[in-house]
Amino acid sequence: MAVRRVLVTGGNRGIGLAIVQELLKRYEDTYVLLGSRSLSAAEQAIAAMPAEHRARCTPLQLDVASEASIRDAAALVKEKFAPLHGLVNNAGVMPSDFDLKSGLDINVRGTVLMCKYFEPMLLERIVNMSSGSAPNFVQKCAPEKQAMLVRPESWAQVESAIQEMENIYALDHSKVPAAFEKAGFGSFAGISVYGFSKACVSAFTYTYAKEVPRLITNACSPGFIETDMTQHFVSPGQSAKEAGLKTPAEGAEVPIMLLMEPIKTTGKYYGSDGKRSPWDKYRSPGAPEYTGE
Ligand SMILES: NC(=O)c1ccc[n+]([C@@H]2O[C@H](COP(=O)([O-])OP(=O)(O)OC[C@H]3O[C@@H](n4cnc5c(N)ncnc54)[C@H](OP(=O)(O)O)[C@@H]3O)[C@@H](O)[C@H]2O)c1
Repeated sequence: MAVRRVLVTGGNRGIGLAIVQELLKRYEDTYVLLGSRSLSAAEQAIAAMPAEHRARCTPLQLDVASEASIRDAAALVKEKFAPLHGLVNNAGVMPSDFDLKSGLDINVRGTVLMCKYFEPMLLERIVNMSSGSAPNFVQKCAPEKQAMLVRPESWAQVESAIQEMENIYALDHSKVPAAFEKAGFGSFAGISVYGFSKACVSAFTYTYAKEVPRLITNACSPGFIETDMTQHFVSPGQSAKEAGLKTPAEGAEVPIMLLMEPIKTTGKYYGSDGKRSPWDKYRSPGAPEYTGE
């Protein structure tokens, strides 16, 4: 049986770990590289798996915020495991609204650099973990900012929006909210940095799929999933389910579909129900599928 090797970043916990576990459980022909910035966290996650899964899973030290770490991991994978069926850019953070650097370094540049270094080894698929926060963010932007983030002509166009955002964040913190809103990035509240970073991930997916048409590259939202990232959305005394959160295994469904199932669409954004969603408007799970570009 031909083996399909897959790399999942941030595979040591949360949705990433669920993707690893479900891949090993559902597809006997998979071999999974469990990317984790902490090798011991990866080893612990693998040690807790059934023996049959452990035999098809290996830890890979990988800090997506570090180009050197990505380069080293790519060299090791090229030597020992290439080619890979696919890559899941799952690693991510939800930073505070004043921590643009983490949002960009991990969520955006991490995804971009992973694609750059691993593309030569990939046979078929890339799945980029975006979020419903992306269309929610874009929806609130002024038309000229929407034009930079939705169906951009090139990644350079998105990078100019990133540069503009970095200029805003170079100001004194007290001046950031007003400058953010004046620049047309919408209201500065809640999860603005996270929403912006995920809008950039979606926009990157759109441009990258055009640049590298031999691969099937899509972005998705996993849904609202119970992980460390979403703990603060659960009120005291409330269960995760009561707060509307689904399980990590449920969050793994769409990324796995985009990674493993026979799809042909590339450069699209999928909602947590496995149907396409628009880039600039939130579509609730179960609502009619988006059919535009
Ligand atoms: N949970 C949700 O409802 C939800 C909704 C929409 C989108 N998402 C997206 O889904 C993905 C997974 O989120 P989650 O909910 O599973 O979050 P999580 O439980 O907080 O897990 C985040 C994962 O990313 C890893 N990570 C963070 N920074 C990293 C870095 N620099 N290098 C490598 N790995 C790094 C973490 O590793 P460490 O253990 O080393 O920190 C961890 O494995 C993220 O991209 C998130 O934005 C989640």
